[in-house]
Amino acid sequence: MTSYQHVTPEIEAQLRNIVGEKRFMSGDTIKPDYSHDEMPIYGSYMPEAVCEAESTEEVSAIMKICSANKIPVTVRGAGTGLVGGCVPVNGGIVLSTEKMNRILGYDMKNLVVDIQPGVRLCDLAADALSHGLMYPPDPGEKTATVGGNVSTNAGGMRAIKYGVTRDYVLAMTVVLPNGEVIELGRSVCKTSSGYSLLQLIIGSEGTLGIITQLSMRLIPKPGMDVSLILPFANIREAVAAVPEIKLANLDPQSIEFMERDIVDSSAAFTNNKIFPTVVNGKEAGAYILVTLVGDSEDELTLKMKRLGEVAAQCGAYDTLVVWTDGLKKSVWSARSAFLTVIEAEEKMLDEMDVCVPVDRIADFLMFTHDTAVPYGITIRSFGHAGDGNLHIYCCSNDLEEDEFKKVSKEIMDKCYDKCREFGGQVSGEHAIGHAKKAYLRESVGDTVYSLMGAIKHVFDPDGILNPGKVCHDI
Ligand code: LAC
Ligand code: ZN
Repeated sequence: MTSYQHVTPEIEAQLRNIVGEKRFMSGDTIKPDYSHDEMPIYGSYMPEAVCEAESTEEVSAIMKICSANKIPVTVRGAGTGLVGGCVPVNGGIVLSTEKMNRILGYDMKNLVVDIQPGVRLCDLAADALSHGLMYPPDPGEKTATVGGNVSTNAGGMRAIKYGVTRDYVLAMTVVLPNGEVIELGRSVCKTSSGYSLLQLIIGSEGTLGIITQLSMRLIPKPGMDVSLILPFANIREAVAAVPEIKLANLDPQSIEFMERDIVDSSAAFTNNKIFPTVVNGKEAGAYILVTLVGDSEDELTLKMKRLGEVAAQCGAYDTLVVWTDGLKKSVWSARSAFLTVIEAEEKMLDEMDVCVPVDRIADFLMFTHDTAVPYGITIRSFGHAGDGNLHIYCCSNDLEEDEFKKVSKEIMDKCYDKCREFGGQVSGEHAIGHAKKAYLRESVGDTVYSLMGAIKHVFDPDGILNPGKVCHDI
Protein backbone atom coordinates (compact mmCIF):
# COMPACT_ATOMS: atom_id res chain seq x y z
CA MET A 1 0.00 0.00 0.00
CA THR A 2 1.55 3.28 -1.09
CA SER A 3 1.24 6.25 1.22
CA TYR A 4 1.09 9.57 -0.58
CA GLN A 5 1.49 13.12 0.74
CA HIS A 6 -0.79 16.05 0.10
CA VAL A 7 0.09 19.28 -1.65
CA THR A 8 0.90 21.53 1.30
CA PRO A 9 1.05 25.36 1.04
CA GLU A 10 4.87 25.09 0.94
CA ILE A 11 4.80 22.63 -1.96
CA GLU A 12 2.17 24.75 -3.68
CA ALA A 13 4.50 27.75 -3.46
CA GLN A 14 7.36 25.74 -5.01
CA LEU A 15 5.14 24.56 -7.88
CA ARG A 16 3.83 28.09 -8.51
CA ASN A 17 7.40 29.21 -8.68
CA ILE A 18 8.09 26.79 -11.53
CA VAL A 19 5.09 27.40 -13.77
CA GLY A 20 4.02 30.87 -12.63
CA GLU A 21 0.62 32.05 -11.36
CA LYS A 22 -1.21 31.75 -14.69
CA ARG A 23 -0.37 28.10 -15.23
CA PHE A 24 -1.06 26.90 -11.70
CA MET A 25 -4.47 26.06 -10.24
CA SER A 26 -5.49 24.73 -6.86
CA GLY A 27 -8.64 24.36 -4.77
CA ASP A 28 -11.71 26.06 -6.19
CA THR A 29 -9.87 27.45 -9.20
CA ILE A 30 -9.51 23.94 -10.70
CA LYS A 31 -11.99 23.34 -13.50
CA PRO A 32 -14.13 20.20 -12.92
CA ASP A 33 -13.03 18.95 -16.38
CA TYR A 34 -9.74 17.87 -14.82
CA SER A 35 -11.58 15.30 -12.69
CA HIS A 36 -12.75 13.04 -15.51
CA ASP A 37 -12.22 12.05 -19.13
CA GLU A 38 -14.84 11.29 -21.82
CA MET A 39 -16.21 8.27 -19.95
CA PRO A 40 -17.66 9.80 -16.77
CA ILE A 41 -19.13 6.46 -15.65
CA TYR A 42 -15.64 5.55 -14.40
CA GLY A 43 -15.78 8.25 -11.75
CA SER A 44 -14.70 11.81 -11.02
CA TYR A 45 -11.60 12.53 -8.96
CA MET A 46 -10.47 16.10 -8.33
CA PRO A 47 -6.74 16.81 -8.21
CA GLU A 48 -5.34 19.02 -5.44
CA ALA A 49 -3.49 21.15 -7.98
CA VAL A 50 -3.02 21.49 -11.74
CA CYS A 51 0.27 22.57 -13.35
CA GLU A 52 0.35 23.47 -17.03
CA ALA A 53 3.92 22.77 -18.09
CA GLU A 54 5.57 24.39 -21.10
CA SER A 55 8.95 22.66 -21.25
CA THR A 56 10.95 19.56 -20.37
CA GLU A 57 12.79 21.63 -17.75
CA GLU A 58 9.55 22.57 -16.02
CA VAL A 59 8.31 18.97 -16.03
CA SER A 60 11.62 17.84 -14.58
CA ALA A 61 11.51 20.48 -11.84
CA ILE A 62 7.92 19.54 -10.95
CA MET A 63 8.83 15.85 -10.75
CA LYS A 64 11.79 16.55 -8.48
CA ILE A 65 9.46 18.23 -6.01
CA CYS A 66 6.76 15.57 -6.31
CA SER A 67 9.14 12.66 -5.94
CA ALA A 68 10.85 14.23 -2.92
CA ASN A 69 7.42 14.67 -1.31
CA LYS A 70 5.67 11.49 -2.60
CA ILE A 71 2.94 13.40 -4.38
CA PRO A 72 0.97 11.59 -7.09
CA VAL A 73 1.26 13.07 -10.57
CA THR A 74 -1.19 12.31 -13.36
CA VAL A 75 -0.30 13.57 -16.81
CA ARG A 76 -3.13 14.79 -18.98
CA GLY A 77 -3.30 15.88 -22.61
CA ALA A 78 -6.69 16.89 -24.03
CA GLY A 79 -8.56 14.52 -21.69
CA THR A 80 -10.31 12.71 -24.54
CA GLY A 81 -9.51 9.21 -23.21
CA LEU A 82 -12.18 6.60 -22.53
CA VAL A 83 -10.79 4.48 -19.67
CA GLY A 84 -10.04 7.02 -16.92
CA GLY A 85 -6.35 6.95 -17.85
CA CYS A 86 -5.68 10.65 -17.20
CA VAL A 87 -7.93 10.90 -14.14
CA PRO A 88 -6.18 11.55 -10.80
CA VAL A 89 -7.75 8.69 -8.83
CA ASN A 90 -5.36 9.37 -5.96
CA GLY A 91 -5.48 13.17 -5.92
CA GLY A 92 -2.13 14.93 -6.09
CA ILE A 93 -1.39 17.03 -9.12
CA VAL A 94 -2.54 16.88 -12.71
CA LEU A 95 0.30 17.83 -15.01
CA SER A 96 -1.24 19.20 -18.18
CA THR A 97 0.75 19.07 -21.42
CA GLU A 98 -1.85 21.07 -23.37
CA LYS A 99 0.39 24.13 -23.52
CA MET A 100 3.30 22.06 -24.88
CA ASN A 101 1.69 22.31 -28.29
CA ARG A 102 4.43 23.43 -30.65
CA ILE A 103 5.45 21.70 -33.86
CA LEU A 104 9.20 22.17 -33.55
CA GLY A 105 10.31 21.44 -37.10
CA TYR A 106 10.47 19.10 -40.06
CA ASP A 107 13.45 17.13 -41.30
CA MET A 108 12.35 16.82 -44.93
CA LYS A 109 15.29 14.61 -45.91
CA ASN A 110 14.57 11.99 -43.27
CA LEU A 111 10.77 12.45 -43.16
CA VAL A 112 10.63 13.25 -39.45
CA VAL A 113 8.77 15.90 -37.51
CA ASP A 114 9.73 16.96 -33.98
CA ILE A 115 6.83 17.99 -31.80
CA GLN A 116 5.87 18.70 -28.23
CA PRO A 117 3.43 16.15 -26.81
CA GLY A 118 0.48 18.54 -26.52
CA VAL A 119 0.18 19.07 -30.29
CA ARG A 120 -3.31 18.00 -31.32
CA LEU A 121 -3.68 15.15 -33.79
CA CYS A 122 -5.75 17.32 -36.18
CA ASP A 123 -3.09 20.04 -36.13
CA LEU A 124 -0.22 17.64 -36.84
CA ALA A 125 -2.19 15.92 -39.63
CA ALA A 126 -3.03 19.24 -41.32
CA ASP A 127 0.45 20.70 -40.89
CA ALA A 128 2.10 17.57 -42.30
CA LEU A 129 -0.19 17.73 -45.35
CA SER A 130 0.83 21.34 -45.92
CA HIS A 131 4.40 20.01 -46.21
CA GLY A 132 3.30 17.37 -48.75
CA LEU A 133 3.54 14.67 -46.07
CA MET A 134 1.11 12.44 -44.23
CA TYR A 135 0.94 11.51 -40.57
CA PRO A 136 -0.80 8.15 -41.03
CA PRO A 137 -2.35 7.35 -37.60
CA ASP A 138 -5.94 8.55 -37.62
CA PRO A 139 -7.75 7.87 -34.32
CA GLY A 140 -11.41 8.92 -34.14
CA GLU A 141 -10.91 11.82 -31.74
CA LYS A 142 -9.03 14.39 -33.80
CA THR A 143 -8.64 16.86 -30.92
CA ALA A 144 -6.68 14.35 -28.84
CA THR A 145 -3.04 15.24 -28.27
CA VAL A 146 -0.36 13.22 -30.03
CA GLY A 147 1.28 12.64 -26.62
CA GLY A 148 -1.98 11.02 -25.47
CA ASN A 149 -2.11 8.96 -28.66
CA VAL A 150 1.43 7.74 -28.00
CA SER A 151 0.63 6.98 -24.36
CA THR A 152 -2.30 4.76 -25.34
CA ASN A 153 -0.84 3.55 -28.62
CA ALA A 154 -3.98 4.77 -30.35
CA GLY A 155 -4.88 3.06 -33.61
CA GLY A 156 -7.65 4.60 -35.64
CA MET A 157 -9.15 4.40 -39.09
CA ARG A 158 -6.03 3.86 -41.19
CA ALA A 159 -4.29 1.21 -39.06
CA ILE A 160 -5.06 -1.60 -41.46
CA LYS A 161 -2.73 -0.14 -44.08
CA TYR A 162 -0.30 1.99 -42.15
CA GLY A 163 -0.16 0.55 -38.63
CA VAL A 164 -0.77 2.33 -35.33
CA THR A 165 0.80 5.23 -33.46
CA ARG A 166 3.60 2.96 -32.17
CA ASP A 167 4.83 2.51 -35.73
CA TYR A 168 5.46 6.25 -36.15
CA VAL A 169 7.42 7.08 -33.00
CA LEU A 170 11.15 7.22 -33.66
CA ALA A 171 12.46 8.97 -30.57
CA MET A 172 11.30 10.78 -27.46
CA THR A 173 12.44 12.80 -24.49
CA VAL A 174 11.14 11.39 -21.22
CA VAL A 175 11.17 12.78 -17.70
CA LEU A 176 11.44 9.98 -15.16
CA PRO A 177 9.45 10.12 -11.91
CA ASN A 178 12.57 11.37 -10.07
CA GLY A 179 12.92 14.28 -12.50
CA GLU A 180 15.84 12.85 -14.49
CA VAL A 181 15.60 13.48 -18.25
CA ILE A 182 16.40 10.68 -20.71
CA GLU A 183 16.40 10.37 -24.50
CA LEU A 184 14.98 7.18 -26.01
CA GLY A 185 15.25 6.05 -29.63
CA ARG A 186 16.86 7.89 -32.53
CA SER A 187 15.47 9.38 -35.73
CA VAL A 188 16.61 6.44 -37.82
CA CYS A 189 14.67 3.71 -39.58
CA LYS A 190 15.99 0.63 -37.81
CA THR A 191 17.32 -0.46 -34.47
CA SER A 192 18.51 -3.71 -32.90
CA SER A 193 20.11 -1.91 -30.01
CA GLY A 194 19.13 -3.53 -26.75
CA TYR A 195 15.78 -3.51 -24.97
CA SER A 196 13.48 -0.95 -26.54
CA LEU A 197 12.50 1.31 -23.68
CA LEU A 198 11.01 3.57 -26.35
CA GLN A 199 8.49 0.88 -27.24
CA LEU A 200 7.88 0.23 -23.54
CA ILE A 201 6.95 3.86 -22.89
CA ILE A 202 4.58 3.83 -25.89
CA GLY A 203 1.25 2.53 -24.60
CA SER A 204 2.32 2.75 -20.94
CA GLU A 205 -0.35 5.40 -20.27
CA GLY A 206 1.89 7.81 -18.38
CA THR A 207 2.77 5.26 -15.69
CA LEU A 208 6.53 4.98 -16.36
CA GLY A 209 7.69 8.42 -17.43
CA ILE A 210 6.45 11.70 -18.88
CA ILE A 211 6.91 12.26 -22.60
CA THR A 212 8.02 15.83 -23.24
CA GLN A 213 9.16 15.69 -26.86
CA LEU A 214 8.56 13.35 -29.78
CA SER A 215 10.17 12.65 -33.15
CA MET A 216 7.47 11.21 -35.38
CA ARG A 217 7.92 9.46 -38.70
CA LEU A 218 5.97 10.75 -41.69
CA ILE A 219 5.34 9.38 -45.17
CA PRO A 220 4.83 11.08 -48.54
CA LYS A 221 1.23 12.12 -49.07
CA PRO A 222 -0.57 9.41 -51.11
CA GLY A 223 -1.62 10.41 -54.61
CA MET A 224 -5.39 10.04 -54.36
CA ASP A 225 -8.03 8.14 -52.50
CA VAL A 226 -11.63 7.12 -52.85
CA SER A 227 -14.12 5.82 -50.30
CA LEU A 228 -16.83 3.28 -50.98
CA ILE A 229 -19.95 2.50 -48.98
CA LEU A 230 -21.10 -1.12 -49.11
CA PRO A 231 -24.62 -1.57 -47.70
CA PHE A 232 -25.59 -5.07 -46.48
CA ALA A 233 -28.70 -6.76 -45.14
CA ASN A 234 -27.22 -7.19 -41.67
CA ILE A 235 -24.06 -6.99 -39.63
CA ARG A 236 -23.17 -10.67 -40.04
CA GLU A 237 -23.13 -10.41 -43.83
CA ALA A 238 -21.28 -7.11 -43.67
CA VAL A 239 -18.38 -8.34 -41.56
CA ALA A 240 -18.22 -11.66 -43.44
CA ALA A 241 -17.10 -9.58 -46.42
CA VAL A 242 -14.07 -8.20 -44.58
CA PRO A 243 -11.69 -11.19 -44.99
CA GLU A 244 -12.67 -11.38 -48.66
CA ILE A 245 -11.91 -7.68 -49.15
CA LYS A 246 -8.55 -8.17 -47.44
CA LEU A 247 -7.75 -11.19 -49.61
CA ALA A 248 -8.49 -9.26 -52.81
CA ASN A 249 -5.05 -7.60 -52.55
CA LEU A 250 -6.35 -4.05 -52.76
CA ASP A 251 -4.32 -2.79 -49.78
CA PRO A 252 -7.19 -0.65 -48.45
CA GLN A 253 -6.45 2.21 -46.11
CA SER A 254 -9.61 1.65 -44.05
CA ILE A 255 -12.30 -0.96 -43.60
CA GLU A 256 -14.85 0.26 -41.06
CA PHE A 257 -18.18 -1.26 -40.03
CA MET A 258 -21.27 0.41 -38.68
CA GLU A 259 -24.70 -0.79 -37.71
CA ARG A 260 -27.78 0.87 -39.14
CA ASP A 261 -29.02 2.47 -35.92
CA ILE A 262 -25.83 4.48 -35.42
CA VAL A 263 -25.95 5.63 -39.03
CA ASP A 264 -29.55 6.84 -38.54
CA SER A 265 -28.66 8.60 -35.30
CA SER A 266 -25.66 10.23 -36.87
CA ALA A 267 -27.77 11.45 -39.82
CA ALA A 268 -30.26 13.02 -37.40
CA PHE A 269 -27.57 14.48 -35.14
CA THR A 270 -25.45 16.01 -37.90
CA ASN A 271 -28.38 16.74 -40.21
CA ASN A 272 -26.42 14.93 -42.87
CA LYS A 273 -27.95 11.80 -44.38
CA ILE A 274 -24.92 10.60 -46.24
CA PHE A 275 -25.35 6.81 -45.90
CA PRO A 276 -28.23 5.53 -48.08
CA THR A 277 -30.76 3.51 -46.08
CA VAL A 278 -32.78 1.95 -48.92
CA VAL A 279 -30.63 0.56 -51.72
CA ASN A 280 -32.14 -1.04 -54.83
CA GLY A 281 -35.40 -1.31 -52.91
CA LYS A 282 -33.82 -3.06 -49.91
CA GLU A 283 -33.35 -1.77 -46.36
CA ALA A 284 -29.70 -1.72 -45.34
CA GLY A 285 -29.01 -3.19 -41.90
CA ALA A 286 -25.26 -2.56 -41.73
CA TYR A 287 -22.45 -1.03 -43.74
CA ILE A 288 -18.80 -1.48 -44.58
CA LEU A 289 -16.91 1.70 -45.45
CA VAL A 290 -13.70 1.17 -47.42
CA THR A 291 -11.04 3.65 -48.49
CA LEU A 292 -8.68 2.77 -51.32
CA VAL A 293 -5.56 4.75 -52.20
CA GLY A 294 -3.57 4.91 -55.41
CA ASP A 295 -1.34 7.08 -57.53
CA SER A 296 -3.64 7.54 -60.51
CA GLU A 297 -7.30 7.40 -61.47
CA ASP A 298 -6.58 4.32 -63.59
CA GLU A 299 -5.13 2.46 -60.61
CA LEU A 300 -8.07 3.43 -58.41
CA THR A 301 -10.59 2.52 -61.09
CA LEU A 302 -9.14 -0.98 -61.31
CA LYS A 303 -9.18 -1.37 -57.55
CA MET A 304 -12.77 -0.09 -57.32
CA LYS A 305 -13.90 -2.52 -59.99
CA ARG A 306 -12.33 -5.44 -58.13
CA LEU A 307 -13.85 -4.28 -54.84
CA GLY A 308 -17.26 -4.04 -56.50
CA GLU A 309 -16.97 -7.66 -57.68
CA VAL A 310 -15.93 -8.93 -54.25
CA ALA A 311 -18.67 -6.90 -52.56
CA ALA A 312 -21.34 -8.29 -54.92
CA GLN A 313 -20.14 -11.85 -54.31
CA CYS A 314 -20.45 -11.19 -50.57
CA GLY A 315 -24.03 -9.95 -50.86
CA ALA A 316 -23.53 -6.17 -50.76
CA TYR A 317 -26.58 -4.37 -52.11
CA ASP A 318 -24.34 -2.02 -54.07
CA THR A 319 -20.96 -0.30 -54.08
CA LEU A 320 -21.48 3.42 -53.70
CA VAL A 321 -18.49 5.48 -54.74
CA VAL A 322 -17.63 8.54 -52.66
CA TRP A 323 -15.27 10.41 -54.91
CA THR A 324 -15.53 14.17 -54.39
CA ASP A 325 -13.73 15.88 -51.51
CA GLY A 326 -17.01 17.26 -50.18
CA LEU A 327 -18.70 13.86 -50.03
CA LYS A 328 -15.63 12.19 -48.55
CA LYS A 329 -15.53 14.83 -45.83
CA SER A 330 -19.23 14.26 -45.17
CA VAL A 331 -18.89 10.49 -44.90
CA TRP A 332 -15.82 10.55 -42.70
CA SER A 333 -17.05 13.31 -40.42
CA ALA A 334 -20.26 11.30 -39.95
CA ARG A 335 -18.07 8.30 -39.06
CA SER A 336 -15.89 10.33 -36.68
CA ALA A 337 -18.99 11.63 -34.88
CA PHE A 338 -20.39 8.21 -33.93
CA LEU A 339 -19.17 8.30 -30.34
CA THR A 340 -20.38 11.89 -29.89
CA VAL A 341 -23.78 10.83 -31.23
CA ILE A 342 -24.04 7.92 -28.79
CA GLU A 343 -22.95 10.19 -25.92
CA ALA A 344 -25.65 12.67 -26.87
CA GLU A 345 -28.42 10.06 -27.08
CA GLU A 346 -27.69 7.86 -24.09
CA LYS A 347 -27.93 8.80 -20.43
CA MET A 348 -25.77 5.87 -19.30
CA LEU A 349 -22.82 4.57 -21.24
CA ASP A 350 -20.06 2.05 -20.76
CA GLU A 351 -17.74 0.74 -23.44
CA MET A 352 -15.61 -2.13 -24.66
CA ASP A 353 -12.79 -1.63 -27.13
CA VAL A 354 -11.82 -5.24 -27.68
CA CYS A 355 -9.78 -6.50 -30.59
CA VAL A 356 -10.79 -9.95 -31.85
CA PRO A 357 -9.64 -12.00 -34.84
CA VAL A 358 -11.40 -10.59 -37.89
CA ASP A 359 -13.29 -13.83 -38.56
CA ARG A 360 -14.83 -13.68 -35.05
CA ILE A 361 -16.21 -10.12 -35.27
CA ALA A 362 -19.76 -11.18 -36.08
CA ASP A 363 -19.82 -13.93 -33.45
CA PHE A 364 -18.57 -11.50 -30.85
CA LEU A 365 -21.12 -8.82 -31.76
CA MET A 366 -23.95 -11.38 -31.70
CA PHE A 367 -22.79 -12.66 -28.34
CA THR A 368 -22.76 -9.12 -26.95
CA HIS A 369 -26.29 -8.38 -28.20
CA ASP A 370 -27.60 -11.72 -26.89
CA THR A 371 -25.97 -11.17 -23.51
CA ALA A 372 -27.34 -7.66 -23.09
CA VAL A 373 -30.97 -8.28 -24.10
CA PRO A 374 -32.12 -9.97 -20.84
CA TYR A 375 -30.71 -7.03 -18.85
CA GLY A 376 -32.66 -4.46 -20.86
CA ILE A 377 -29.40 -2.89 -22.04
CA THR A 378 -29.00 -1.62 -25.59
CA ILE A 379 -25.81 -2.43 -27.46
CA ARG A 380 -24.55 0.04 -30.03
CA SER A 381 -21.44 -0.65 -32.00
CA PHE A 382 -19.13 0.46 -34.76
CA GLY A 383 -15.43 0.09 -35.33
CA HIS A 384 -12.43 -0.89 -37.30
CA ALA A 385 -13.55 -4.05 -39.07
CA GLY A 386 -10.29 -4.44 -40.96
CA ASP A 387 -8.39 -5.02 -37.74
CA GLY A 388 -11.10 -6.57 -35.57
CA ASN A 389 -11.12 -3.59 -33.21
CA LEU A 390 -14.69 -3.14 -32.03
CA HIS A 391 -16.19 -0.21 -30.14
CA ILE A 392 -19.17 -1.66 -28.32
CA TYR A 393 -21.30 0.47 -26.01
CA CYS A 394 -23.67 -0.72 -23.30
CA CYS A 395 -26.33 1.98 -23.17
CA SER A 396 -29.43 2.82 -21.17
CA ASN A 397 -31.80 5.71 -20.82
CA ASP A 398 -33.91 3.97 -18.18
CA LEU A 399 -31.61 2.70 -15.46
CA GLU A 400 -30.19 4.79 -12.64
CA GLU A 401 -26.41 4.90 -12.36
CA ASP A 402 -25.92 2.25 -9.64
CA GLU A 403 -28.20 -0.26 -11.31
CA PHE A 404 -26.66 0.48 -14.71
CA LYS A 405 -23.14 -0.05 -13.41
CA LYS A 406 -24.14 -3.35 -11.83
CA VAL A 407 -25.72 -4.83 -14.95
CA SER A 408 -23.16 -3.37 -17.29
CA LYS A 409 -20.42 -5.05 -15.26
CA GLU A 410 -22.21 -8.40 -15.50
CA ILE A 411 -22.48 -8.02 -19.27
CA MET A 412 -18.86 -6.88 -19.59
CA ASP A 413 -17.59 -9.79 -17.46
CA LYS A 414 -19.25 -12.25 -19.82
CA CYS A 415 -18.09 -10.44 -22.93
CA TYR A 416 -14.46 -10.16 -21.82
CA ASP A 417 -14.52 -13.91 -21.05
CA LYS A 418 -15.77 -14.51 -24.57
CA CYS A 419 -13.13 -12.17 -25.99
CA ARG A 420 -10.44 -14.21 -24.23
CA GLU A 421 -11.96 -17.44 -25.54
CA PHE A 422 -11.81 -15.99 -29.07
CA GLY A 423 -8.13 -15.11 -28.63
CA GLY A 424 -8.77 -11.36 -28.46
CA GLN A 425 -7.26 -8.43 -26.59
CA VAL A 426 -8.96 -6.37 -23.86
CA SER A 427 -8.25 -3.12 -25.69
CA GLY A 428 -7.38 -2.44 -29.31
CA GLU A 429 -6.64 1.25 -28.85
CA HIS A 430 -8.38 2.97 -25.92
CA ALA A 431 -6.06 1.28 -23.39
CA ILE A 432 -6.56 0.14 -19.78
CA GLY A 433 -6.54 3.17 -17.45
CA HIS A 434 -8.16 2.16 -14.18
CA ALA A 435 -11.41 0.98 -15.75
CA LYS A 436 -10.11 -2.16 -17.47
CA LYS A 437 -7.41 -3.25 -15.02
CA ALA A 438 -9.22 -6.34 -13.77
CA TYR A 439 -9.88 -7.48 -17.33
CA LEU A 440 -6.23 -6.97 -18.26
CA ARG A 441 -5.14 -9.10 -15.34
CA GLU A 442 -7.53 -11.91 -16.30
CA SER A 443 -6.50 -11.66 -19.91
CA VAL A 444 -2.71 -11.79 -19.48
CA GLY A 445 -2.59 -13.97 -16.35
CA ASP A 446 -0.85 -13.48 -13.01
CA THR A 447 2.73 -14.03 -14.17
CA VAL A 448 2.59 -11.48 -16.98
CA TYR A 449 0.63 -9.04 -14.81
CA SER A 450 3.32 -9.30 -12.11
CA LEU A 451 6.05 -8.71 -14.67
CA MET A 452 4.25 -5.55 -15.74
CA GLY A 453 4.06 -4.49 -12.08
CA ALA A 454 7.78 -5.19 -11.64
CA ILE A 455 8.62 -3.00 -14.65
CA LYS A 456 6.48 -0.23 -13.19
CA HIS A 457 8.41 -0.55 -9.94
CA VAL A 458 11.79 -0.19 -11.69
CA PHE A 459 10.75 3.09 -13.29
CA ASP A 460 8.65 4.41 -10.44
CA PRO A 461 9.54 2.77 -7.10
CA ASP A 462 7.30 5.12 -5.11
CA GLY A 463 4.35 4.67 -7.47
CA ILE A 464 3.80 8.42 -7.85
CA LEU A 465 3.23 8.48 -11.60
CA ASN A 466 -0.39 7.93 -12.59
CA PRO A 467 -1.13 5.71 -9.58
CA GLY A 468 -3.73 2.99 -9.83
CA LYS A 469 -3.51 2.56 -13.59
CA VAL A 470 -2.76 -0.35 -15.95
CA CYS A 471 -0.97 -2.76 -13.57
CA HIS A 472 -0.50 -0.59 -10.47
CA ASP A 473 -2.64 -1.15 -7.41
CA ILE A 474 -3.07 1.52 -4.78
C1 LAC B 1 -13.35 5.82 -32.89
C2 LAC B 1 -12.88 6.00 -31.48
C3 LAC B 1 -13.98 5.88 -30.49
O1 LAC B 1 -12.91 4.90 -33.56
O2 LAC B 1 -11.85 5.12 -31.17
O3 LAC B 1 -14.18 6.64 -33.32
ZN1 ZN C 1 -11.50 3.67 -32.79
